[in-house]
Amino acid sequence: MSKLWGGRFEGKTHALVEALGESVSFDARLAPWDITASIAHARMLGECGIIAKGDAAKIIRGLKEIAADVAAGRMQWSAALEDVHTNIEAALVARIGDAGKRLHTARSRNDQIATDVRLWLRDQTDAVVSLLRELRLALARFAEANLDVIFPGFTHLQHAQPVLLAHHLLAYAAMFARDQERFTQMRRRVNVMPLGAAALAGTPYPVDRARVAKELGFDALSENSMDAVSDRDSLVEFCANCSLVMAHLSRLSEELVLWSSQEFGFVEIGDAFTTGSSIMPQKKNPDVAELVRGKTGRVYGDLVALLTLVKGLPLTYNRDLQEDKEPVFHASDTVQLCLAVYAAMIPSIAVRRDAVARALRLGFMEATDLADYLVRKGMPFREAHGVVGRIVRRCIELDTSLPELPLEEYLRHSDAFAPDVYEAVKPETMVRLRDTLGATSPRRVKAALRKVLRELGA
Ligand code: ARG
Repeated sequence: MSKLWGGRFEGKTHALVEALGESVSFDARLAPWDITASIAHARMLGECGIIAKGDAAKIIRGLKEIAADVAAGRMQWSAALEDVHTNIEAALVARIGDAGKRLHTARSRNDQIATDVRLWLRDQTDAVVSLLRELRLALARFAEANLDVIFPGFTHLQHAQPVLLAHHLLAYAAMFARDQERFTQMRRRVNVMPLGAAALAGTPYPVDRARVAKELGFDALSENSMDAVSDRDSLVEFCANCSLVMAHLSRLSEELVLWSSQEFGFVEIGDAFTTGSSIMPQKKNPDVAELVRGKTGRVYGDLVALLTLVKGLPLTYNRDLQEDKEPVFHASDTVQLCLAVYAAMIPSIAVRRDAVARALRLGFMEATDLADYLVRKGMPFREAHGVVGRIVRRCIELDTSLPELPLEEYLRHSDAFAPDVYEAVKPETMVRLRDTLGATSPRRVKAALRKVLRELGA
C-alpha cells in the first residue's frame, strides 16, 4: 500500500521501520473521536469555501459509513498505513474517491492527534468522575449499614483508639472525593481545541476554528499553535490523577487483605470477588484487592513514562510523542476497571462483628481515655500519662485488660479513681466523647454520612 506521504520518496520503507513506527495497533481505538473531529473539520472546510460544499458532504457521508464499519468491527486496519488517521483517510479515499483527498486540507496529523486525544480524554475524565461517584456511594452505603460498629483504630498498625468503622470508611470516601475534584478541575484544561495549529505554525487557509470547536463541544481554542501540537500536559495530569486514585485504592486494598486474614478476621469478602487455591481447598483469597494493589505500580509507571517522554523534547512535534498513547490508555483502562470492580465488591463485604468486638478488647486502647479521666479529676496530663502507663504494665503482669482491672488496683496507682472509671473505658463512651468536627462520635459520623449521601444525590 502506498504511503500518504510517499511523494518525496523513491525507496521503500524498511519492514522493521514499519514495525517500529506503526501505531494503529494501539491508536485504532481513537477512531470514533478521530472521525468526529474530521467530520467537524470537513463541514467547516465546506462552509468556509475552502473545499466545495459537495465534496464536504461526500466526505461527511463517507466518514459516517466508516464510523459504522469501525463500530461493527468491519474496518480493516493496516499497520503498513501507520496510524489511525492514515488508515481512515485511505479508507475514505477508497470509498468516495478524489473528494476524500481534500479532507486533510488546512490540518496536519500533529493538530489532528492532539485534538483526537483531547476529545478521548474528555470522555475518559467524565467516565472516571462517574465511577468515583459510584465508589463513594458504595462506601457510604457500607458505612451506613455498619453505623453501630466500633472498630479498632490503628497507628503504626498497632491498636490506638477506638473509632466507628463508618468513620474509617468515610476517610476513603473523602480521598475519593478529592480525586473526583481533581478530575473535574482538569477537564477545564483538557477541553481546549488544538485543531487549527496544523503542523506547528497555523494554516494560511481562512479556517473558522471557533465553528469547529463549537461542533466538537470544546470550551476554548488553543492560543499558541506551537504549544498546541507539543503539549502533553493534560495526559500527564490525567495520569497523575489516576496515580492518586490507585494510591487510595491500594491503601484500601491493603486494609482488606489484612482485615480478611485469619489474624484480623474483621471482614469476609463475597464469593464473587474472591478466588480459591488450586491446591489448598480451604482458601478464599482476596485477589481483587491484591490485583488492584499490584496494578498501582504500573499506573505510576505510566505517569513516569509520560513525564520522561516530554522531558527535554524540543518544540514542536517530535515522533517520540506517539509513545504517549499506550501509557495513558493503560492508566485510563486500569483506573476505570479498578474503580468499577471496587464499587461492585464493596456491597459483598460482610463485617464479622464478633471478631471486631474481640479485637476491640486488645491493645489497651482505653489508655488515652483513662489519662483524660484523670485529667478531668484535676491531674496534669503528663502525670496522668505516667500513671496510666504503669497501670498498663500492671495489666500485662496480671494478664488482664483495663476494663477488667479491679478498682483496688486502680486505687493503688492514684486515689483519683472511682467506680465511674469503668464507664470511661467503655468503647461507646470513648467514641461518644470525641465529638469535635471531623471526629469519630456517632453524632459527627452520622452528620458526615448524611453530607456525603446528600452530595451524591442519594
Ligand atoms: N501517529 C502520530 C502520533 O501519534 C500522529 C502524528 C504524526 N505526525 C507526524 N508528523 N508524523 O503522534
